[in-house]
Formats: sequence, C-alpha cells, structure tokens
Amino acid sequence: MRIIRELTELPPAYDGAFIPTMGALHEGHFALIRRAVRTPHRPIVVSIFVNPTQFAPGEDFERYSRNFEEDYEKAQAAGAEVIFAPSVKAMYPPDTQIPIPPLPKVAREPGLEESSRPGHFEGVCQVVARLFDLLKPRCAVFGEKDYQQLLVIRAMVEHEGERWDGLEIISHETVRESDGLALSSRNVNLDTEQRSRATGLSKALQQASESSSPPAAEAAMRRILDDHDLEIDYAVVRDAETLMAVETLEKPTRALIAARLGNVRLIDNLAIPASI
Ligand code: PAJ
Repeated sequence: MRIIRELTELPPAYDGAFIPTMGALHEGHFALIRRAVRTPHRPIVVSIFVNPTQFAPGEDFERYSRNFEEDYEKAQAAGAEVIFAPSVKAMYPPDTQIPIPPLPKVAREPGLEESSRPGHFEGVCQVVARLFDLLKPRCAVFGEKDYQQLLVIRAMVEHEGERWDGLEIISHETVRESDGLALSSRNVNLDTEQRSRATGLSKALQQASESSSPPAAEAAMRRILDDHDLEIDYAVVRDAETLMAVETLEKPTRALIAARLGNVRLIDNLAIPASI
C-alpha cells in the first residue's frame, strides 16, 4: 500500500474509488472501503485528514482521536490501496485561500446541523472539494450515518457540474453496534454510563419509524431521548431528499437526531418508509 503525505507525490488523476475520512477508523469506515472494492474503479484511495475548517472553536478538533498506525493496518485489510494523509499545511498552505464552494440549500435547512454547528458544512464542502480536485476520483463513497452531509455532497457535486467529470457519489447504510448504537469515532469518548444512555438515539429513531405522523414521531423521539437523559440539539422528521419540514408521512421521510451527553455530541438518523 502507498502512503501519500505530500501533494507533490500525487499523480495527475487517480481515476479510482475514494473514501474520505477523518481517521479513527472503525467498521463503518471499513464497510465504505469494502463498498468501494465492489466498484470497477481502482485504486481504492482512502484519505485520513482531520479537517480543522469544519470544527468551530471549542469543538473537539484537538481531542479528535488520531492513531495513524492502527488506521493504516486496518484500512489496508479492508481493501485500501492508497492512503492520502496530508498535513494541515499541505491542505491549507498559509499563503493560499482554498475556495469554499457555494453552500447547497440542503445544508442550510433550519433546525438541523447548521443551526447547531454554524459554518460546519462550509468546512466540509471546502475540504471535500479540495480532495476531489487533488485526487480526481471516479466515484466516492459516503455513509448515511451523516445523512445531511451525504445530501450536501451530492448537491455540491451536481451544482459543480463538469468540475469533477461525472464523479459518482455512492452511499452506504449506517453500520451499528448490536444494541443499535451507530458506530462513530466519537463513541470512544463515552464513559460506561454514557455508552448505555447513548442507545437512546437509535431507540428513539426506531420508535419514530413506527409512528403514524411527523408530530407523533417527534414527540416519541423527544420522550425517549429525555428518558435517556440526552440533551437534544434536534429530533425531527424531514423530507428524505430536501430535508424540509413535512406534514405527513406520505412521501419518504427521514428521522434525524443530534444529542449531547456531557461534551460528546452524537448524531444518527433513520429512514421512515412512505406510509402508502
Ligand atoms: P468521518 O466522520 O471520519 O466519516 C467518514 C465517512 O464514514 C463518512 O462518509 C461517514 O458518513 C462514514 N461513516 C461514519 N460512521 C459510519 C457508520 N457507522 N456507518 C456507515 N458510515 C459511517 O464525515 C467525515 O469524516 C468528514 O466530514 C469528511 C467527509 C471526511 C470531510 O472531512
């Protein structure tokens, strides 16, 4: 496997399958790598870069888990052929402005990530656009775990048109622990007691998916999250494509939650099938 840290080591284009990550890799990431292996595109390129511009001051950028040796071994075992692990200086040279693409509307839907983490998606779009420019992949795999991010990236790629030349965005379902908790690099920050309360997110989503209306689903989620003593950023049902508010469950919708336990913020979501 090749490890690339300098932009000067990159070929003009990889024409491969790309999985962007911030490291601290787990089964969720490996599932995306294995999904990429099922495409015809090679090589399988995984980026490991904790992107400072998507963290607000006071968020967990400094304490975000970093363990390159372990990531490298496990990514290779899952099928990665190239690891791109640039420094912050390589990605954001001090004398260069790295452009931020126009933010798609789905990034700004009130009451979701942008309300709790203003500026977050600017940073995500900035780094993902930069990675696409540098690596020129044919396809890129993103997890449904970060559902709004997935829709934002799809909209950005659509908006940028020819810039990435037919780049296909592939999604992969959320990988969960046996008790339902979605795998996340942030789960390592939970103590034993918080780890058990964290199951409230998936339980709330499950209940929402069995509800008969958006208000009933939202009320059920709030009750379960409260019961688990989770601080709610949002617990909502939205249109599965636009993330706009909905009045019925007639079209495909998505239940989305962000909640905090101490200084750990967790997000999760689940499809609610159309009711007719
Ligand atoms: P990170 O949180 O490392 O996630 C990298 C990819 O793994 C994302 O597409 C995310 O949705 C996916 N993923 C995480 N947990 C998952 C799970 N339990 N099941 C399935 N997929 C999962 O998302 C980011 O990094 C960054 O914002 C990034 C896109 C790399 C830009 O910096």
